Amino acid sequence: MWRERQRLRPPPPLLVAAAALVVVSALASAPEAALQVGFYHETCPIAEDVVLAEMRLILMEDATVAPALLRMHYHDCFVQGCDGSIMLRSRKKGNKTERDALPNRSMRGYDAIERIKARLEAVCPLTVSCADIIAMAARDAVYLSHGPWYDVETGRRDGNLTVAEYVENDLPPPDSNIVDVKTFFSVKSLNSKDIAVLFGCHSIGTSHCGPIQKRLYNFTGSMDQDPSLNPDYAAELKKLCPPPRPGVDDDGGEGKTKVPLDPGSNYTFDLSYYRHVLATGGLFQSDGSLLHDPVTRGYVEKVAKAKSPDEYYADFAAAMVKMGRTDVLVGDLGEIRPTCGIFVD
Ligand code: HEM
Ligand SMILES: *[C@@H]1O[C@H](CO)[C@@H](O)[C@H](O)[C@H]1NC(C)=O
Ligand SMILES: *[C@@H]1O[C@H](CO)[C@@H](O)[C@H](O)[C@H]1NC(C)=O
Ligand SMILES: *[C@@H]1O[C@H](CO)[C@@H](O)[C@H](O)[C@H]1NC(C)=O
Ligand SMILES: *[C@@H]1O[C@H](CO)[C@@H](O)[C@H](O)[C@H]1NC(C)=O
Ligand SMILES: *[C@@H]1O[C@H](CO)[C@@H](O)[C@H](O)[C@H]1NC(C)=O
Repeated sequence: MWRERQRLRPPPPLLVAAAALVVVSALASAPEAALQVGFYHETCPIAEDVVLAEMRLILMEDATVAPALLRMHYHDCFVQGCDGSIMLRSRKKGNKTERDALPNRSMRGYDAIERIKARLEAVCPLTVSCADIIAMAARDAVYLSHGPWYDVETGRRDGNLTVAEYVENDLPPPDSNIVDVKTFFSVKSLNSKDIAVLFGCHSIGTSHCGPIQKRLYNFTGSMDQDPSLNPDYAAELKKLCPPPRPGVDDDGGEGKTKVPLDPGSNYTFDLSYYRHVLATGGLFQSDGSLLHDPVTRGYVEKVAKAKSPDEYYADFAAAMVKMGRTDVLVGDLGEIRPTCGIFVD
């Protein structure tokens, strides 16, 4: 299944090293520490190789970890910056952490990150941050799902400030309209084009029924269906996700059923998400909201009819790198933890 694209392969380590040297010398005069491609070139030259190798093994065992880790990078970056704090488990007596916030019921892949971290601790102790591991794993998840390869910036350090309540403040809910989405993303310095590009992440993976129940069964509160959802697609979704039964499905719809975000192509990172959104209105209202703004709609239409993925892939790489810079801790800030999920006291 993990047939690889011949184009856009990861560069051989020597090229990475050479590129890193160029970056390092270019930054030598910069007064502030910053993220850079190949940050571990001196301190742990095999870091990226270790992550990619471990990701191959992890995805051979369970292909659905790829979308889970791509999503984890987004959540990590949006809540308190890309600082690995999404991994922390609550202390016995302490605030609930991001990980223990409500949306954690559908967040997966924590074990995969700890597994990669353990491999890295064995070869380069206390060197590679959890935030960087998540960023590298997200890139590899896309690549190993037949998507593009891109150079990931590293040099993030880990944060230990994590508050459950921030999760809901920072992440737009799936019933967001385009105005809400733009508000949440602009706080992270991401513009309309970035939104349209990053939503392409929903090219892989699945959702539980919970986030679409309202859209299917009670859109405005009078037991109606979202009129912007294609009726045939809605009928299909209703077969998979029956109405929640009061008193039985009170877990917020986090039952066992999984619905693909990009039907028919949810193992493959490709452009079909954009054709899906244009044809059906997308799985979530937030996906469909891309059609309700001239800039994002124009982008969806352009990608949906693109003959080659190259331009989208270049946009995707740029947007992921930009998202990966959100409120990062660099230089002397933050810490490197031996285990991502456990506070260092
Ligand atoms: C307004 C913005 C967004 C909303 C409202 C949103 C919402 C959601 C929801 C509700 C799910 C399903 C969770 C579940 O029930 O299992 C999901 C899955 C996912 N999201 Fe998003 N998302 C947004 C943006 C993004 C972005 C920017 C990325 C990537 C950078 C992303 C990547 C993913 C992936 C890969 C999955 C599949 C996870 C899996 O299969 O386990 N999302 N998203
Ligand atoms: C989710 O949070 C609950 C408590 O709020 C916690 O018991 C559980 O372990 C968390 N799940 C994961 C996967 O960390
Ligand atoms: C606990 O949560 C409050 C906000 O609810 C926050 O101000 C405080 O910094 C948190 N404490 C720690 C140790 O994270
Ligand atoms: C694709 O969707 C199906 C449900 O239709 C699900 O069983 C499968 O795990 C999904 N694949 C990925 C990679 O999420
Ligand atoms: C439908 O939505 C309305 C308004 O939000 C709510 O009062 C009502 O309980 C909902 N009905 C069902 C069956 O969920
Ligand atoms: C967080 O890390 C800083 C060092 O970066 C440390 O001084 C502080 O005690 C830590 N706080 C917690 C709650 O672990």
